[in-house]
Amino acid sequence: MRIGVLTSGGDCPGLNAVIRALVRVVERTHGGSVVGFRNAWQGVLEDDWEVLDVARCRGILPRGGTIIGTSRVQPYARDDGVELVRRSMERHSLDGFVVIGGEGSLSCAADLVVDGVPCIGVPKTIDNDVVGTELTFGFDTAVSICTSAIDRLHTTAEAHDRVMVVEVMGRKVGHIALRAGIAGGATMVLVPEVPFDIDEVAGALRRRHDGVSFASIVVVAEGAVPVPGTLEVPEYRTDEFGHQRLGGISHLLAAEIEERTGIETRVTILGHVQRGGSPTAFDRVLATRFGAAAADAAAAGSWGTMVGLAADRVVEVPLAEVARRRRPVDLHLYERVARPFFAS
Ligand code: F6P
Repeated sequence: MRIGVLTSGGDCPGLNAVIRALVRVVERTHGGSVVGFRNAWQGVLEDDWEVLDVARCRGILPRGGTIIGTSRVQPYARDDGVELVRRSMERHSLDGFVVIGGEGSLSCAADLVVDGVPCIGVPKTIDNDVVGTELTFGFDTAVSICTSAIDRLHTTAEAHDRVMVVEVMGRKVGHIALRAGIAGGATMVLVPEVPFDIDEVAGALRRRHDGVSFASIVVVAEGAVPVPGTLEVPEYRTDEFGHQRLGGISHLLAAEIEERTGIETRVTILGHVQRGGSPTAFDRVLATRFGAAAADAAAAGSWGTMVGLAADRVVEVPLAEVARRRRPVDLHLYERVARPFFAS
């Protein structure tokens, strides 16, 4: 067995742990070998690769980023893309590819399977929005980073009686905002799934600060949107997967809060800090389980599937069921645990 592996889309803590486990199990359990393509599909299209063996993967388990690089390049963005992928398979005598990616990359892998290129998916994203798995690795690390940032912001916000708007990642879903907001005791959590009403937000903060000196933390997912027609949001650029490059909703929100309440309001955008550095122990374990399972799936010929977590067991789900879908936050959890805390 000889497989190609690539890490595609935004990086996320735990990618190296997947690669390490995949290589070990392919080599040691199945007697096969692994070719790593650099910078996702770009390495396949341009034949930029390296052999990944156990020796090359020593010491990478706790490292953030990805030793083979990543990009948002995808084969369907060019006319000869799929043909180049097929040629790469032939050139390297590959049985297929293991694609470690988020929703966009997994949708692309699902399309390639339909076009005759065997792929197995491994779900990766700090956003935790891939369907077919209860969790993606990287999420736990991102939530931990955001929670400790919120803890720190509480003390400085209290010292100055300010409103702190904390922007976290989450393009279409608010899993990070919701979990970190709950864990960090935020005053409010704004997620893309539930458009926010700026009057409600400002009104709640005004009541909370009325007559007493208080600090408030508003956690907002970068993809949060106002109720249509209430606020104008800037246009965003898109990448080859059609994903918007977001960031900055917190500035708009803070300006509106300050204007409507008169309370000094500051912004912290956590940005790529959420994706950098070493994965938590939880993410290292999950990533290792996924990498090992992907190797077993390839050995078993389970092409066209994605490994995922269900009731704490690693399962295989059809890639076709995963493509072009996103798992939203649990609205019951949001309404039950995040909303009642609005300005209380
Ligand atoms: O999809 C993961 C993610 O971290 C999103 O939360 C975020 O919108 C996006 O990637 C940022 O990507 P980039 O690093 O390419 O700007």
